[in-house]
Amino acid sequence: MCGIIAYTGSREAVPVLLAGLRDLEYRGYDSTGVAILDDAGGELTVVKRRGKISELDAAISSQSISSAHTGLGHTRWATHGVPSDENAHPHASCGGEVVVVHNGIVENYGELRKELTDRGHIFGSETDTETIAHLIEENLKLGHDLVTSLREASGQLVGSQAIVALSEAEPGVVVGARLGNAGGIVVGYGEGEMLLSSDLAALLPHTSKVAFLDDGQIVRISANGATFATRDGRPAKVNPSTILLDATTADKGTYETYMLKEIMEQPVALADTIGGLMTVEPARLYLDDLGDVRPWLERVERVLLVGMGTSLHAAMVGRWYFEQIARLPADIDNASEFRYREPVLGPETLVVSVSQSGETVDVLEAMNVARACGSPQITICNTPGSQSTRLADGTVHTYAGLERGVASTKTFTTSLAALFALALETAQVRGRISEQEFASHIQGLVAMPEIVGRQLDAFDVVAKAAERFSTTEHILFLGRGPALPIALEGALKMKELSYVHAEGYAAGEMKHGPIALIDQNFPTIALAGQHALRSKIISNIEQIRARKGEVLAIVTEGDEELIALADAALTVPSVPALLEPVAAIVPLQILAYATAKTRGCNIDQPRNLAKTVTVE
Ligand code: F6R
Repeated sequence: MCGIIAYTGSREAVPVLLAGLRDLEYRGYDSTGVAILDDAGGELTVVKRRGKISELDAAISSQSISSAHTGLGHTRWATHGVPSDENAHPHASCGGEVVVVHNGIVENYGELRKELTDRGHIFGSETDTETIAHLIEENLKLGHDLVTSLREASGQLVGSQAIVALSEAEPGVVVGARLGNAGGIVVGYGEGEMLLSSDLAALLPHTSKVAFLDDGQIVRISANGATFATRDGRPAKVNPSTILLDATTADKGTYETYMLKEIMEQPVALADTIGGLMTVEPARLYLDDLGDVRPWLERVERVLLVGMGTSLHAAMVGRWYFEQIARLPADIDNASEFRYREPVLGPETLVVSVSQSGETVDVLEAMNVARACGSPQITICNTPGSQSTRLADGTVHTYAGLERGVASTKTFTTSLAALFALALETAQVRGRISEQEFASHIQGLVAMPEIVGRQLDAFDVVAKAAERFSTTEHILFLGRGPALPIALEGALKMKELSYVHAEGYAAGEMKHGPIALIDQNFPTIALAGQHALRSKIISNIEQIRARKGEVLAIVTEGDEELIALADAALTVPSVPALLEPVAAIVPLQILAYATAKTRGCNIDQPRNLAKTVTVE
């Protein structure tokens, strides 16, 4: 979950590292730090602070740090040890000759720490990371070079890690290792300079030529280039690729938060995704990266969709798409549960993972389980080159552009578009859809960017409706059918941004318990679009109001009966049933945003969260 940036080359390292850390702040914001390796004396200097990058910036400005052309930086999401100056990364070995930044968990750190302490090492922090610095130092003292020392140290670690290190013994050199799925390492190739980062986002301002480390690979960079090795020390061939993603689109621009910008970008993100996957005339799909998995679409007997958080909610909508459009049995599973359940599946099951980052550890491990079972796999992903795209047999890319807000918005709606396209492709391959139906589904999807744009035109109206929620402590979100995942997603957005306790429920489940909560202080947001078994939802709303519960209904434009029935209503344009989730989530995103804003919450950096969950 932490962010890593490292630089070596002709420019001064500190400004590059600080800019990189700003690009990575969504990865963790408990503390930040940099280490630089002085060119002349090869001396390491570490500056680190609890809190945001501004604290680090001030600390650096107040010290006279010599100019250096090699360094690394880290933004932390605490796992072992509270956020503090001492626990902030980078961590140095006792002699200070080695510094390490790290993403992941050293699961045997207690044992290692005891052994190292017994051998005379003195620890300066409570972190698991520091053990790595001491282990590298021991290996350097044996006469190994930095790459070998990192490899030897890595061999002693249990758990998944991404590690980047510098040593006074090798000025101008940075090394990194990817061990398992606790976050990636991306190598950036510049002109007379090289970079390493946990994220593509921090490299794109410098270069579009990048290479991704696979599990077990180690990289050594110097200003002249990169060399790669495997876990057992053999040279590895890793080819850089060119990533066509515009880093400037990731700026906040005139918006006050990334999240607001990303909500407003949805029409364009959807249009780019839809345009990248299909044409209307002729009605045709171009899922070019399905590769060898395409024939499996015909053979498989069921689909299992996995994901976490918002992406799991997208997967839940995807289940409807596969069942309704391709008439293929479909299930969903939470990746963190699936991976430990010894699931019963094989080549008859197509596994579809949804992950905007492509680096969520539970999703990657679920994919490894699915691979071991022999299931063909497709991933829906917004990050080119990420680990999920390399593990899967095929990918359906979303073209939402970089997403910086910790709460996912545009990658949710674009994932729905990609899942819709994949279900259509599956239906076509299996001969389950007429040409007319196919064309009509495509037309329905192609209309969505404009529909979402209309939803956004009503931003102020929705934000006004959110005023009611600024003082409430609880909200119930209800939905049925394809609107159930939208109720769950609306509740997730509300709780993570505004810290209001929000529960998403299947409306039919109401009478089986949750209705006991309802009184005048417990409002409900009911997804009551035209396709959501309208008469049943009407009954649910009546039952809530009979208990003095207040209802804000999300209804189809022109549905006067429901507008009159609810205490307040927000409208969604009339769209085909399966596409209603794409439209209906927009007011819920705005409600969560506006509630959080009124409550004074930090919208882009909600407490305790980080974008991309790379530890369990
Ligand atoms: C919530 C949110 C998270 C992510 C989840 C999966 O707003 O963004 O719930 O959806 O951590 O992330 P990805 O899609 O990167 O696998």
